Amino acid sequence: MRAKIVAGNWKMHGTRAESATLIDAIIAGLRADSAQCVLCPPFVYLSDAWRLLRGGSVALGAQDVCAETHGAFTGEISAAMLKDVGCQYVLVGHSERRALYGEDSQLVARKFAAALSRGLTPILCVGEQLAEREAGRTQEVVASQLDAVTGLCGVPALDAAVIAYEPVWAIGTGRTATPGQAQDVHEFIRQRMAGQDAKIAADVRILYGGSVKAGNARELFAMPDVDGGLIGGASLKADEFLSIVAAASG
Ligand code: 13P
Repeated sequence: MRAKIVAGNWKMHGTRAESATLIDAIIAGLRADSAQCVLCPPFVYLSDAWRLLRGGSVALGAQDVCAETHGAFTGEISAAMLKDVGCQYVLVGHSERRALYGEDSQLVARKFAAALSRGLTPILCVGEQLAEREAGRTQEVVASQLDAVTGLCGVPALDAAVIAYEPVWAIGTGRTATPGQAQDVHEFIRQRMAGQDAKIAADVRILYGGSVKAGNARELFAMPDVDGGLIGGASLKADEFLSIVAAASG
């Protein structure tokens, strides 16, 4: 049985005070049997978040990482720095990074490797654009995003990682993949990995992301290959996020 994970990607939202209030409310609302929770605040609030989360069951994650270890890379944040401020997880290859900041799958693979090399758990985001889905290219796109990572790092590297399937057309649009659509792609991802390593394929957590809300989380998480969620907008409201965590728990 794969233990579910619910991760909140706060993106570029909130103030320092709002972040602290949100974290306090989430901690207060979690139950002993809650699913593993990961919070990914903006970089500048990571240290504050770590102080608030310290010693508890909620893990800290970052939204991005530099592929390089150190050096003259103005504005970038290394995996070692993330580790230093208490991160256990980091998103790599989020579609907003790919689309808005020109990150290609080769760079994403290098970021994935950088995260692993410092003992961070990368949450590798994959997913197709609407036009790609409509052209029947979903599997091809997702496969090539995955293959870039396994090509550089090897399939065994996925043992220490989490995958998030986030169809770009469902992100921030209120348009969610149906449970069946999500399951189809999750199953495809698992089967593709099973061709290379059956055990890793069976064990790896594959999260669904894209307009997950309290009202649709339960049916999505009921799918056999959906192992939790990567939540954007709904992770900014404590009650809504806690309901999603509850849908993944117990
Ligand atoms: P929404 O939940 O706001 O659609 O965002 C999903 C996402 O991009 C999480 O990384």
